Amino acid sequence: MSGERNFIEVMIRRGVQGIVAALVMWLAARFLFHFPPVFQVMFVLYAFLGTGVFILLDAPSLSPISGFKAVALLVGFYAVISLVYIAGASALPQYDPMVEKGKIEKIVKPKLAATEKGKNDELLKRTEALNAESQAILKRLEALGGEEAKKIEASVGGGSTGGRAAPAAAGGDLVALGKEQYDLQECYNCHKIGGKGSVKKRGPVLDNIGNLMKPEEIKEKLMSPRAWMAEGFEKEYNKKLMPDKYKELMSDQEIDELVAYLSTLKDPSVQTPKPIKK
Ligand code: HEC
Repeated sequence: MSGERNFIEVMIRRGVQGIVAALVMWLAARFLFHFPPVFQVMFVLYAFLGTGVFILLDAPSLSPISGFKAVALLVGFYAVISLVYIAGASALPQYDPMVEKGKIEKIVKPKLAATEKGKNDELLKRTEALNAESQAILKRLEALGGEEAKKIEASVGGGSTGGRAAPAAAGGDLVALGKEQYDLQECYNCHKIGGKGSVKKRGPVLDNIGNLMKPEEIKEKLMSPRAWMAEGFEKEYNKKLMPDKYKELMSDQEIDELVAYLSTLKDPSVQTPKPIKK
């Protein structure tokens, strides 16, 4: 009997010590080391676990058990301990790596995109500057040397299909480049040329546009689609179907190429709607 009373005293003493230890550890973890809350909870749990172990060490010894009862108790003990561990572990907050990855991406992505965009913008600017420079040089050469410079231009263009810098010397190339622009800008989504394109018939065929519009007028239509209306397409015109974006999307050079190409479309056998100045 006195052993039992002693053990109750031990439990109270150890219990108080355990609470003090838990408190100290929690305060230190929170205010001294600034651990996150999960860790604070874990330290408190460890303090209680330690308290339990110390109480067990001081517990009065049990009378020896043997045989089947001993095995059953051992298995039961493992079962309870395992259960406590598993339940305890799953009660703590779980981390999903995908969720954490998502959070990191959210922070990193905008920064990455910003630097990428910066690089692109810079490259674009440099390309434009270089382009302007070469154009200026060619113009000056032309002004200075007249025919001589034109020859140089032609040779710079390699005298072949690469003659982008020498439009005057290579009219055929300009038209070819314009055809490229027509495809690049996806005009065929709404227009038909030579029976190809615009399955949905959203816009007029363009086969004879070169006879109906002067180059400046075609250019005007591209730069501001509201300036002209194709006859019979009032509804589409009022719906502003033809996009007003090419003056932003395309360089002057590209517009000129496209206009050059469209100006060659002179097939009177294909009924092309008459352009009406607005
Ligand atoms: C989303 C459809 C759409 C796209 C894309 C489009 N257009 Fe049009 N376009 C129209 C429609 C509709 C009309 C007729 C109504 C009007 O004049 O605004 C038209 C009219 C024209 C006309 C005048 C035709 C005439 O007979 O009067 C020209 C030229 C033209 N487009 C050229 C182009 C070129 C070049 C491109 C590509 C850079 C292009 N369009 C892209 C819908 C489109």
